[in-house]
Amino acid sequence: MARAEDGRLILLEAPLALFPGERVEAELRWKPKHAEGRVTGWLQRDPRRADAGCDVAESCGGCDLREAGLHAGELKRTLVEDLVRRQLPDAPPFEWLPAPPAARRQRIQVHWDGKALGFHRRASHALVPITTCPAAAEALSEALPRLLEALQARMLPTRAARWELATGTPPGTVVASLEDGRAWRLEPDGWQRTEAPLRHRLPCGTLSHGPGAFFQVCAAWAAEAFGTTLGDWGLEGGTLYDLYGGVGLFSALLGSRFKHRVLVEAHPGATAYADQNLSTLGLTAEVHTADVAEWLPESLGTAEDLILLDPPRAGLDPALAQRLLGASAGRLVLVGCDGAAFCRDLQRLQPAWTLSRLAFLDLFPWTVHVEGVALLERS
Ligand SMILES: C[S@@+](CC[C@H](N)C(=O)[O-])C[C@H]1O[C@@H](n2cnc3c(N)ncnc32)[C@H](O)[C@@H]1O
Repeated sequence: MARAEDGRLILLEAPLALFPGERVEAELRWKPKHAEGRVTGWLQRDPRRADAGCDVAESCGGCDLREAGLHAGELKRTLVEDLVRRQLPDAPPFEWLPAPPAARRQRIQVHWDGKALGFHRRASHALVPITTCPAAAEALSEALPRLLEALQARMLPTRAARWELATGTPPGTVVASLEDGRAWRLEPDGWQRTEAPLRHRLPCGTLSHGPGAFFQVCAAWAAEAFGTTLGDWGLEGGTLYDLYGGVGLFSALLGSRFKHRVLVEAHPGATAYADQNLSTLGLTAEVHTADVAEWLPESLGTAEDLILLDPPRAGLDPALAQRLLGASAGRLVLVGCDGAAFCRDLQRLQPAWTLSRLAFLDLFPWTVHVEGVALLERS
């Protein structure tokens, strides 16, 4: 964000980071009250600016803060401070968990157009061919040329498609999957069809999920960060309602502190694994395959209970937020990976819930995205 001399707002896109105080050249498009634009060159660079260490960083659109190098977390924290100051002026001071330098993506999505394999160019569907990705786990980077080779040799379906490459924890096995659910595991002699799950050995236990299903992007780091944050908040009691529960990460992290566990998740593939994961951990749970908004009863819970919600990026449906105002649980944890939607949902819950703890976790290194986690107490 910048200001013109007459005070009008300028919103700038600056690929690969912009430190406060840097002097830049930019192309601007003026609208009635503000301008939007793109940085085209630097007149004065911040000494913290680093080499991106990636040939396609500027075009590929995957890493917004790559040139901030080891200072990306610091820069991101200032973005969060600004967001909280504007959206949640009465919030308690927030905890900030920067990503460790070793955190890498364990899931990436690449596109095959019939000839080349790559990421989509920033704000476009044009392909940026890639053969490696420094933001991804080494096992995924090494699998990229193998995937390209197999597609070019017609050993895998060759129609244009989006492929997801994913690995477990610790990274090792690599699975490539298509949106229709078909998956192939990388073996020394090539890609073999598989239906076997990916496994994450985490401090809270081993969690498995089907190929192509949702799991945290930097799984090992996410489990550590959520474990540290929620572990410090003294969460325990009667029933844990793990809503948008996926394959059971939060039930695995917190479940043993509660007498009962209820997990609700829409994807049947995920609930089958949630059931299996939690019973392997010795945590009996009621698992429902359902839309949370349809499942959520009026006045859910009692004073001893905790409702934990981890909705997709768009956040809570307004009708669902409204229903949560009448819930009877004593505490509520909201998790959200879109800062603006997360703050909006906290505002919507405010009439009945008081924000008592707030944390932001850098679960998406080198991007501008952060994971918000909030603890609310019944007012
Ligand atoms: C951000 S993920 C969280 C998953 C899980 N809590 C974790 O950390 O691994 C959101 C989850 O909500 C599920 N989901 C999306 N829309 C839903 C809905 N309307 N009702 C229930 N689950 C939904 C998705 O399938 C996905 O597993």
